[in-house]
Amino acid sequence: MLLIQLTGLSGAGKTSIAFRVQQMLLQREIAAEIIDGDMYRKSICKDLGFSPADRRENIRRLGAIAQALVLKNTIAIIAAINPFDDVRKELKEKYDARTVWIHCALDILVERDTKGLYRKALLPGDHPDKIRNLTGLNDIYEIPIGADLVIYTHTEDLETSAVRLFSFILDNILEAGS
Ligand code: ADX
Repeated sequence: MLLIQLTGLSGAGKTSIAFRVQQMLLQREIAAEIIDGDMYRKSICKDLGFSPADRRENIRRLGAIAQALVLKNTIAIIAAINPFDDVRKELKEKYDARTVWIHCALDILVERDTKGLYRKALLPGDHPDKIRNLTGLNDIYEIPIGADLVIYTHTEDLETSAVRLFSFILDNILEAGS
């Protein structure tokens, strides 16, 4: 029915928003599935790391899974960092995906640091636990200029963000006439 590709830094709220929106859609009896980067990296993307090539391959695989669900009349929401503009464009063109930027200021993410990743990325250069390729801190995140929707999670609460994405999805389904 519709492919939504979320994009945004780790901890910005992609997964939380996706799950809340899924509940809202299911309440309306609209089928929705979440294709979560963290989850698929434990199964069919287990062989992939965080190099640019692996991140691109990761999103391509998630895109293919999402599209299979879309063809079964489902709203498929990809919740992954999805840092590169070329692959986001690829999914947009190939699957008519909508791009939604889940944006949170980096200083807030560092402060929240729910997974402890930002602390590890900020460790001194010689520290054995240092993460050297954390998106947004010491690895590339290409700003999604021209995103179809931007959600600001440092100023909005989860419910407000979820309602905005939910309304966006309903509008897009109606537009497509499906
Ligand atoms: S993506 O770049 O390929 O789209 P994806 O969303 O699947 O990334 O995975 C990101 C998740 O992996 C993060 O939420 C975090 O839990 C974990 N992670 C571990 N190392 C890194 C890293 N170097 N950069 C980004 N995320 C990382």
